[in-house]
Formats: sequence, structure tokens, C-alpha cells
Amino acid sequence: MKIFVDSADLQEIEKYLSWGICDGVTTNPSIAIKCGVKSFAELKERSIAIAGLIAPRPLSVEVTTNDRDEMLQQAREYVGWAPNVNVKITITTREGESCLPVIRQLAAEDIDVNVTAMMTFNQAILAAKAGGKYLSLFGGRIDDEGNDAIEVIGATREWLDLWGDTLPRQPEIIVGSTRTVRNITDWAGVGAHIITVPPDVLGKMLVNARTKETVAQFLDDADKALKALGG
Ligand code: E4P
Repeated sequence: MKIFVDSADLQEIEKYLSWGICDGVTTNPSIAIKCGVKSFAELKERSIAIAGLIAPRPLSVEVTTNDRDEMLQQAREYVGWAPNVNVKITITTREGESCLPVIRQLAAEDIDVNVTAMMTFNQAILAAKAGGKYLSLFGGRIDDEGNDAIEVIGATREWLDLWGDTLPRQPEIIVGSTRTVRNITDWAGVGAHIITVPPDVLGKMLVNARTKETVAQFLDDADKALKALGG
């Protein structure tokens, strides 16, 4: 399973690259704003910087328009920024109109699409059939609605294992909207290919109070042993 960093913060991304655990990066307009991006020019500059830092790992950048013709134009522009950039397209518009024609057209142009903001198994299989490369299921938001992200992810993975050979390309499930360390255990367990994790949750995956206590015990005993040996 791959871990993506759900952030547009260069320092955080660099940190997790240095840990050897960053297999890619996902962003969206909310994340970009939170990480200090204030204009489209800055979004381009930041995306190019992240893509260069993580290459050849993939970077997802989301379109900033609700108009489907403009989505196509933006997507074609984004993939010119760096060879490892893929384009996030929401499964529907704000009004619930289908973005599947956009996804299908971009796939026909050999552009990798990350189909995003998906909450259901049914959306995910439509996105896969239209040619989506990444199927982004928003685990935390699915659970917020009283539905069960574990069930949705598991059903999607089973369906892909059964029918993947019939699809235009081999999609991978990205589970996002990760809120807790427990989410990662649960979603990895039902076959998420990728989990995209915000930096604060990545930090919590590592640190454990009992581990810290154990390390302290070893170091104290090593000190005592060295002193007893006169060193
Ligand atoms: C991932 O690709 C999504 O953009 C992200 O994980 C959404 O998370 P949120 O529900 O915390 O906004």
C-alpha cells in the first residue's frame, strides 16, 4: 500500500520524503489555501515546486472551475507543468451534473485523472469505467454522513479485483479525508491501494508513549552498565 502526503507544504513534504514514506502528494484548493497559496500563479509555482521535489512520484492538482469546458483546458495546462502531475476532477459539478465526459476525454488524451470528492461505491465504479486513474474516496466525510467508509472501500476493491481487466486503465483507490490513525488501520485492512494522510496524522502514526518509555529504559540501563564498567 502506498502513502501519499495530503498537503501543499513543501517543508512537510520534504520531511516525509526524508523518512522514506512519501509515495506521492495530493492537494486540493482548500489545502492549497491553508498552505499559503493566494492566487492561480502561486498555485502553479507551488505545484511545480512540489512536483520537482517528489519526482517521479505523482502529484494531484485539482481544477479550480465548475465549468466542464474550463476543466478540460485547466487539466491540459496542469499536465504541462511537470510530467508527474495528474489532475483532480470532481465526480460531479456543484449542481450534481456529471463530470464523467471530462474524465473520459482526458483519459482518451492519456492524461491521468484523479476522480475526487467521491462518497459511494457507485460513484467509484462509474469513475473507473470512464477512465479514472485514481479513485478518491473521502473516508472521513463518508463516516460523517453516518455511512461506513470501510464497507465502501472494501466493496470498491473487490469490484476492481473482479472487473479491473475490463477497464480502460487499471485504477487505484486513494482514500482521503483521513482523520485518525485508526482510519489507516481500517482502510488498509480492506484494500485501499493508497491512503493520503495529512501531516498531523502522519506524525501520530509514529509516536507511541510506550515506545518512548521503552527507549528511555534502554538508554538508562545502558548508562548504568557503562558507569558500572567504569566508562
Ligand atoms: C484528498 O485527496 C482530499 O482532498 C482530502 O483528503 C480531503 O480531506 P478533508 O475531508 O479533510 O477535507
